[in-house]
Amino acid sequence: MRVAIMTDEVGWHTRQLQAALRARGAQGRCVDLADCSVDTTASWHGLAIPGFGRELPDAALVRGIAGGSFEQVTKRLGVLHALRALGVPVYNDARAIERSVDKAMTSLLLHAAQVPAPATWATESSAQARRVLMRERAAGHQLVLKPLFGSQGKGLQRLGDVAPADAAAPGGAGDGTLPALDGLYGGLAYLQRFVPPLQSGDGAPGFDWRVLVIAGRAVAAMRRVSAHWVHNVAQGATCEPCTLTPALAQLAERAAAALELDYAGVDLMPLDAEAAVQVIEVNGIAAWQGLQRVTDFNIARALVDDLLDRRLAAVPVAAASADAPAAAQRRPLRRA
Ligand SMILES: Nc1ncnc2c1ncn2[C@@H]1O[C@H](COP(=O)(O)OP(=O)(O)O)[C@@H](O)[C@H]1O
Ligand SMILES: [Mg+2]
Repeated sequence: MRVAIMTDEVGWHTRQLQAALRARGAQGRCVDLADCSVDTTASWHGLAIPGFGRELPDAALVRGIAGGSFEQVTKRLGVLHALRALGVPVYNDARAIERSVDKAMTSLLLHAAQVPAPATWATESSAQARRVLMRERAAGHQLVLKPLFGSQGKGLQRLGDVAPADAAAPGGAGDGTLPALDGLYGGLAYLQRFVPPLQSGDGAPGFDWRVLVIAGRAVAAMRRVSAHWVHNVAQGATCEPCTLTPALAQLAERAAAALELDYAGVDLMPLDAEAAVQVIEVNGIAAWQGLQRVTDFNIARALVDDLLDRRLAAVPVAAASADAPAAAQRRPLRRA
């Protein structure tokens, strides 16, 4: 059993996955999607996956996709779409990753599924974004501007009546007004209503929750606590263990289901003192090093077990060998 771990970074996460695969008698080989190519002369399936020769992996586990040009990212995602079309389980599936990487699509899908989330706007028009900001400000709200494909709390800005120290994410810039949208924001304003911290005493550290959902079930949770309002571990937040309450679990599970993710890291925040909760963001390529520190089971093993026992078990036998043209005949490679 050979699993391609799709990643642009070899490190703690990939070692965890390789160890978990080894424990199940499988082999995990790291592959950078940037190094995968199309070669219709090389094999019956037309894909060239480094380390797999003319064969296909039995499954692909997506751990990281490097940013690149529109063309490069299209090809990288295309490889994942092709693998799925060839009958190779891709975990998370490329379509689900696309839904979660695009914050506007995530917001639309959460909205359609009636999952509580802050009001959200995505517009290419600076004038329209300014009108939203004015309206929201008049109603006593602030907004958060985020890069559409952002992660790790990078590039966030708080807009409206904001103290200078709170205007930007750590290390960023911002003065509470709408910045130029070219460059970092790619010409798009993705705006979300700011959720104020529940207790806003002097220096009171705020927090959000991260809940991990695997195969539709919430399995682990933590509180991310920091003095700064951007509570990502990558921005210095501390991970604290917390109870996975029914409210947190239910909402995280509904969010993962709305995006059809095999596994998901769901960011949530408290809405009011009545324990109401809302979803801030859904991650389809979630890191779990911080969560592992406060979780008493091995997360990589839980992911690998789900991939092997649920996703791989559902693959028809001919496709499971994944190197036979018979698999392609049954599941013709189609445009995804
Ligand atoms: N609307 C919001 N209200 C309050 N805090 C927010 C809001 N959006 C984001 N944050 C804070 O910023 C963090 C990063 O935002 P998020 O949308 O998760 O982007 P990223 O993909 O960079 O993690 C969140 O975990 C939360 O702490
Ligand atoms: Mg996040």
